[in-house]
Amino acid sequence: MSLLEMQKVSYQNEKKLILQEISLKVAAGDFISLVGPSGSGKSTILKLCCHLLSPTQGKILFKGKDIKQYNPLDLRRRIAYCAQTPYLFGETVEDNFSFPYLIRKQKIDLARVQTLLSRFNLDGKILKNRVQSLSGGEKQRIALIRTLLFKPEILLLDEVTSALDVANTELVEKEIYTLNQTGMTILWVTHSPEQSRKYANILLSLEQGKIKTREVLK
Ligand SMILES: Nc1ncnc2c1ncn2[C@@H]1O[C@H](COP(=O)(O)OP(=O)(O)OP(=O)(O)O)[C@@H](O)[C@H]1O
Ligand SMILES: [Mg+2]
Repeated sequence: MSLLEMQKVSYQNEKKLILQEISLKVAAGDFISLVGPSGSGKSTILKLCCHLLSPTQGKILFKGKDIKQYNPLDLRRRIAYCAQTPYLFGETVEDNFSFPYLIRKQKIDLARVQTLLSRFNLDGKILKNRVQSLSGGEKQRIALIRTLLFKPEILLLDEVTSALDVANTELVEKEIYTLNQTGMTILWVTHSPEQSRKYANILLSLEQGKIKTREVLK
């Protein structure tokens, strides 16, 4: 059984058909890169996979069960989504890291937070910074760390290195690969051909809402 499976999934909004009969199997431990021109439907696929959107046709199964049958909050803890435009809330960076603990009725684990900050090349003092004052690349990494404080089973990443320099991009790629090596399943949307092939085992290309090619890389 696949960990996640899209069965002939279409998604249509008021104006147009955005995805057409997408069938896709994700096995536990996969590292899948999703590429395609702007507007081809990459972000829409990720949003469907964590049930931020519902298919207008077809269905999506997580561990053999329709994702509609899962409690949405529980599902999004298990299938975590890191958005293309990072959304930070509250006033400070720390507010963003406290939140995942708060909803689980736990006290923030500052040691874990500090470990992740240093792994992603951010100074521990950034906790007290106001979110409005952060650079695009800092926001991206903070949103990513917030997603990783509690390890999801599937990680959906939407162009999470688009605002980073070369060195920080490599660092984030390696961290994600390490998570994959420890068993986390990754679905990564990227515009970079080099990045799409670096660590992935499957490369999917999307065009006008359809899967155009599926390449097994390793
Ligand atoms: N909320 C929405 N309302 C209307 N149209 C939408 C909405 N979300 C997406 N679309 C349309 O659906 C299509 C696919 O969008 P999507 O964001 O999935 O593309 P993408 O492949 O992620 O593009 P990019 O590489 O630019 O991020 C686009 O034509 C977009 O305009
Ligand atoms: Mg997108």
